[in-house]
Amino acid sequence: MPYHKKLIRMLLLPALLVLLSTGFAVISIYRNGSFAARTSLVSTGTSVSTGASQAGAEKSNTVSIPKSLIPEGHILFIENCSSCHTNTGEGSYRGPNLVGLGAATVDFWVSTGRMPLSQPGIEAVQKPSRLTRQQTLAIVAYVTSLGKGGPPIPKVNLKHANVSEGQTLFALNCASCHTITGSGDALSNRSFSSSLHIASPTQIAEALRIGPGNMPRFGPRTLNHKEVEDIAAYVTRFIQHPNNAGGVGLGGVGPVAEGFIALLIGLGGLMLVSFWIGDRQEKEESRDGH
Ligand code: HEC
Ligand code: HEC
Repeated sequence: MPYHKKLIRMLLLPALLVLLSTGFAVISIYRNGSFAARTSLVSTGTSVSTGASQAGAEKSNTVSIPKSLIPEGHILFIENCSSCHTNTGEGSYRGPNLVGLGAATVDFWVSTGRMPLSQPGIEAVQKPSRLTRQQTLAIVAYVTSLGKGGPPIPKVNLKHANVSEGQTLFALNCASCHTITGSGDALSNRSFSSSLHIASPTQIAEALRIGPGNMPRFGPRTLNHKEVEDIAAYVTRFIQHPNNAGGVGLGGVGPVAEGFIALLIGLGGLMLVSFWIGDRQEKEESRDGH
């Protein structure tokens, strides 16, 4: 067979695969793009300075909230929460008890927009919070003044975090439910693990410590503070911004598209090898005088 015809035949399948994988890549980039829009929408709401709370921090790894915020928190709680959780936070048939749950739990549920619920009976889901950072901390101050207990708000500092360590820990502890791209997934019992594309470092650390909904709790003996920071760094830097991954990263275009790219490289390699072997055999055959 003429050499160029053979070459064209050999290139046909890889070309087809390239076409297919570009298609998949475009689809998943499009889907990730909509997540990015949500990220920027929410980060403006959650990244407002926590300076007030840091001022009085006694322990370096936790955010302590000034008692001076309690009166403001009391008013906000009556306006936004007491219809279901009662004025004293003990709860009713419309909402559970909040006394003794701790600062991290209250901050997580309010800052991720899960609370206040608009009406009892609907599912609490992540959405942009309508309260400012200061208002949220004021509510936390009021609720924690009603009774002690529960984990405090972790103070997350990503400056010295080890992202590759975070990636390993994420793969081991989180990816089974949240998928390796952090997009969330359907779990059993009709429940869903949420997308990690809009969570702030503090919310990630809080989620670990409190275990919201069907998520398990990861205590300090399972994952220490440094490991929590590593995971938060991996989620906020790489999962939320896959294009910053650098190196030979495939850009987090999704498992399907990445699978196709791997398939393409693998198949292409195999074809080159088989072509080389075939070529040698042909030469040997013609040398034998056939
Ligand atoms: C319309 C009723 C309603 C309102 C208003 C409401 N909540 Fe809730 N809240 C609920 C219900 C119902 C749950 C349980 C949701 C679940 O488990 O999915 C809940 C759960 C919570 C939890 C988690 C409790 C736990 O055991 O983990 C916290 C914290 C919380 N609410 C705080 C607040 C705060 C603070 C406000 C006001 C800013 C508020 N809620 C407003 C009904 C309400
Ligand atoms: C067994 C399954 C499971 C595992 C393992 C798990 N999660 Fe979750 N996670 C969930 C579910 C379910 C929710 C949603 C909870 C709800 O809204 O009621 C969630 C919610 C979250 C949220 C809140 C996102 C938001 O913006 O509201 C974060 C952050 C999070 N998980 C991080 C993690 C990290 C980091 C790990 C690993 C250390 C992890 N999760 C391990 C099931 C899991």
